[in-house]
Amino acid sequence: MIDLHHHLLWGVDDGPSQMATSIEMARMALDEGITGVIMTPHHMKGRYENDIGDLKEKQRVLEEALGDEGIDLKLYLGHEVYGDFDTASELSQGRILTLNGSGYLLIEFPFSGIPPYEVQLVTSLLGQGIRPILAHPERIQMPLKDLKIFEDFINRGCLLQVNTGSITGLNGKEAWQRAKYLLQHGMVHLLATDAHNTTTRKPLIREALSRAVKWVGEGEVDTIVARAGDVLWDRGVRINPPGSPKKARRFLLRM
Ligand SMILES: [Fe+2]
Repeated sequence: MIDLHHHLLWGVDDGPSQMATSIEMARMALDEGITGVIMTPHHMKGRYENDIGDLKEKQRVLEEALGDEGIDLKLYLGHEVYGDFDTASELSQGRILTLNGSGYLLIEFPFSGIPPYEVQLVTSLLGQGIRPILAHPERIQMPLKDLKIFEDFINRGCLLQVNTGSITGLNGKEAWQRAKYLLQHGMVHLLATDAHNTTTRKPLIREALSRAVKWVGEGEVDTIVARAGDVLWDRGVRINPPGSPKKARRFLLRM
């Protein structure tokens, strides 16, 4: 399994501050069945702006340390970009990393709501041949009935990534409800841990997958898991148009 949203690199954002924690997180991820991690440090103007050369050097050091520890976890690099007016131009200037150099860019919006400039941003990115992946839309504070707005995002070419912690209730009841709604309406294309540490935001995925299977069935969850590999290797992804509630058909299919 590939985890494509994960703050594994130490000392670059609000993830781990020590490399020892990064190593422990890598061990936990591997125990969960994760074989590859796209490390996605925050990129936020005025707050998190890391030199890309430094990130690559830290990746190399961490790979070496994992090798020494016998932890067979593959590491890749990207950014979780806080979407703003300049995101598209920063990308064209090479200051932002897509996921493993692919045509997919992980973007987050404020939890307080989707900003009005998002239409222009998404349009510019798509115009540059970049497909935006919206990080944890379920964490944006909005009533369930307003989640239909994401149908429009998807129809324009965006993908939606929900956090595993939202499915297991780590992010509160409302995020849990929104995660369930989005999954059951076929609007979740990717799941990822968004791990930050080994205590409050761990790299856990298994429990979330088994809960998601109960909501939408094994076939849908398998497709979501496999899609992360398509993003990593920059393959095209096939998605269904967002639609009516999906129910788990696991038992029906086994009869
Ligand atoms: Fe994140």
